[in-house]
Amino acid sequence: MTLTAKAAPSTKQPPSLPAMHTVKLTVNGIETELQLAPWTSLLDALREYMHLTGTKKGCDHGQCGACTVLVNGKRINACLTLAIMQEGNEITTIEGLARKDADGKDGLHPIQQAFMDHDAFQCGYCTPGQICSAVGMMNEGHARTADDIRELMSGNICRCGAYTNIVDAIQSVMNPQPDAA
Ligand code: FES
Ligand code: FES
Repeated sequence: MTLTAKAAPSTKQPPSLPAMHTVKLTVNGIETELQLAPWTSLLDALREYMHLTGTKKGCDHGQCGACTVLVNGKRINACLTLAIMQEGNEITTIEGLARKDADGKDGLHPIQQAFMDHDAFQCGYCTPGQICSAVGMMNEGHARTADDIRELMSGNICRCGAYTNIVDAIQSVMNPQPDAA
């Protein structure tokens, strides 16, 4: 016969979940107030709470670059930062780029136009991240050659392998010096 000890009823209260926080995000020039759990990533805030689904979720682990957005002009992976950490910052997604062309008029960003002109995508899933990353890379000002572009864009994976045309598209906007033969 097997004797099993009867567990005494627990007197512990289950841990209570942290309260939702009011988070104010400025996205594409519009300030929005959201009620978010404190662990909500910026990526989930954009996609699930603001319905800005242009920013894509690939790996959700900082490995693919599909979620790249601009924060104060710098590119970041939106899956690796909490929304609550981005209060007070200017967040730009692919939807916001489309409204700010080089002349301040409505229309495509030159990088967006270049991706179309150079056929720099196939399925398009990585494209918003590629474009935001390219804009951030140009803001950084370190890329001069096609090799630089390849290196500095290496955090953005394209499963369709559209890399050649992506580099051509970015180069056409940057107009860097041709590579030494
Ligand atoms: S979804 Fe953020 S890097 Fe892949
Ligand atoms: S165009 Fe399909 S993953 Fe890049």
